[in-house]
Amino acid sequence: MTSLEQRIEETRRSINRRIVGHIRNGTSDLADGAMRNSVAVYTDPARHAAERQKLFRETPVVACLSADLPSAGSFRTFDETGVPIVVVRGRDGEVRAFLNICTHRGARLVREAEGQARLFTCWFHGWSFANDGKLAAAPERERFCDAVDERDHLIPVPAAERHGLVFVQATPESAMDIDAHLGDFGPQLELLRLDTAQRVKAGVLPVKANWKYALDTYGEGYHFAALHKQTLAPNFRNDITVYDRYGPHHRVSFVSRDMEAWLDKPEGEWGKGVALGGIHYIFPNTVLFAGSVSPGKAYYTTFRHFPGEQVGETVTHKTIYAPRGVWDEAYRKEVEAAYDATAFVVETEDYVVAAEGWRNLAAMPPGSTVVYGRQEVALQNQHRAIAAAIGMPLPEVGPVREAAE
Ligand code: FES
Ligand SMILES: [Fe+2]
Repeated sequence: MTSLEQRIEETRRSINRRIVGHIRNGTSDLADGAMRNSVAVYTDPARHAAERQKLFRETPVVACLSADLPSAGSFRTFDETGVPIVVVRGRDGEVRAFLNICTHRGARLVREAEGQARLFTCWFHGWSFANDGKLAAAPERERFCDAVDERDHLIPVPAAERHGLVFVQATPESAMDIDAHLGDFGPQLELLRLDTAQRVKAGVLPVKANWKYALDTYGEGYHFAALHKQTLAPNFRNDITVYDRYGPHHRVSFVSRDMEAWLDKPEGEWGKGVALGGIHYIFPNTVLFAGSVSPGKAYYTTFRHFPGEQVGETVTHKTIYAPRGVWDEAYRKEVEAAYDATAFVVETEDYVVAAEGWRNLAAMPPGSTVVYGRQEVALQNQHRAIAAAIGMPLPEVGPVREAAE
């Protein structure tokens, strides 16, 4: 066993022991207390504008997985932050990002969503750029002007690849420290071995709700028994949270009902399940869900949430991957079916409740609050981390409960 495999096994075992302990004892990981939060956090346009700037322009966000840029010349456009960006793997294997803007007169340079190209050629006057961003050719250059100026090359945007994930920070020429951003969550992401994943299906799930309100639906299992009575509750417990926080990021391991059978068995006979099944939240907006179509057949789904211009608009980009590649057609079909099944749950349950709920928040009187329970520990920390990162403290809302008479 390599040391990585050993770490995966140890982490899986320690999570499984915690799960079995919780099932046996009727316990759960919990926050110290409940937390009230102001409704204005979800509805205030000023806060929304600060989030769009600080979290989506000045923080590294996941643009795609390494697998989405499989070889030299692979590219993808990335417009979700509001800044037109093209992400490309160079001939040296490095991932780079540039403003997707032709330096001649500003045309949109790459107009396909993804593909493979040795050069990017602008459709306006035909300037072409190498995938290191350098201007390679301009028609009739001698007559056009003299030498190439530094300003003729594409404008770089910080990009980095870590643990099978491609991060971009959507402010050109800004400083990005991806290792500082990931901190001790990096080694946890490494355990997922995302670098061997293969994309199977992708789509977009829009929702008329604040992006944090949509994000909240991924962070707790407390709603499984009610909202997902038919869909998730038959397979997952809603009363046990297994929570690990890594700075602003976290992991929530879900407890599937088949784990209940482990109680009567020695540890060596516990089922394998999905290693690290549940969600990894990569601050600020990416939720990576690890699930399985059947024992031993896993899938990973990324849900990347992007705020619209309006405070009550969100677009979730959803992509499903086969973690170790697609080894046959039957498996591909199963992973596609898993995509459709989770999209169905999100679109007909989570995002219906989110759109209705967000409209309700907007109708509540000033000073209204919502409350996150002790088992909604992930939401508590998520909102604290977001508020800290934008430099706008959560509004004072008083005690969680009025003192008893
Ligand atoms: S704007 Fe691109 S070549 Fe002119
Ligand atoms: Fe849900």
